[in-house]
Amino acid sequence: MASTTAPMPIATRLLIHGANGRMGQALLRLCSADATCRVVAAVTRRSPAQRVVDGVPWFAATELPGVPAFDVAIDFSLPEGFAALVAQCVARGAAVVSGTTGLDATQVAALQAASATVPVLWASNFSLGVAVLEDLVARAAAALPGWDCDIVEAHHAAKLDAPSGTALSLGAAAAASRGGVAPHYASVRAGDIVGEHTVQFATAGERLELVHRAGNREVFARGALHVAARLAGRAPGTYRVRDLLDG
Ligand SMILES: NC(=O)c1ccc[n+]([C@@H]2O[C@H](COP(=O)([O-])OP(=O)(O)OC[C@H]3O[C@@H](n4cnc5c(N)ncnc54)[C@H](OP(=O)(O)O)[C@@H]3O)[C@@H](O)[C@H]2O)c1
Repeated sequence: MASTTAPMPIATRLLIHGANGRMGQALLRLCSADATCRVVAAVTRRSPAQRVVDGVPWFAATELPGVPAFDVAIDFSLPEGFAALVAQCVARGAAVVSGTTGLDATQVAALQAASATVPVLWASNFSLGVAVLEDLVARAAAALPGWDCDIVEAHHAAKLDAPSGTALSLGAAAAASRGGVAPHYASVRAGDIVGEHTVQFATAGERLELVHRAGNREVFARGALHVAARLAGRAPGTYRVRDLLDG
């Protein structure tokens, strides 16, 4: 007789790299309340003070070769440990999701090489709203040739780089749709703004504004979990958040 109970979803096995950081902690919080994923390894730079926390096993970065099997590594850390993590994902056939900024050309090349063997996704912004915004910007830029395009971004006072990586990605999406003509950028650094991006198209007598505001860092962690669940088991290659919005 057929069972009437719905099958349990198979949980994606995650390795969180940079687990002690702000993003790592947000990911662990979200995973603890999400039955569709299971953290099998929380990895941090230094030796963990406690080996198991809330049922999650912790490892030092030097112990990476000995962690249990995982489907996807989610990395929000520092560039120093990046090459070892990517090598471990390739060795295990596991997908890589990374939001770590400041990667150098060698680290970017290592990620590119890994994409021949495993699915890989690096993004400067994991907000699902920004992924949709990028799509809308590309469409608006294609539909409004000859209009002025300006991108204004605002972030907290401690952010050093300007324009933000997200503003540059949005600018690249606009430029690709209007014959390579780059937009103008303006940056505001003030208070504790998490991240705001306005893309404006203007011509005589009218203006179109597309705006995204991130209210907290959790949106990036939620987006990373969303893409991690959809990247597991995919064909090797380089993916964008935009490619994994459905479902
Ligand atoms: N793309 C996005 O949407 C997005 C959003 C937010 C942040 N980010 C980026 O994500 C990264 C982390 O941000 P955050 O705010 O979470 O930083 P954070 O609070 O400074 O945390 C960084 C963590 O990385 C760990 N770490 C450093 N080297 C490591 C290694 N070799 N192996 C394992 N872990 C290592 C550190 O461990 P210890 O505690 O042991 O030192 C620390 O806990 C940054 O590059 C940031 O720019 C991206």
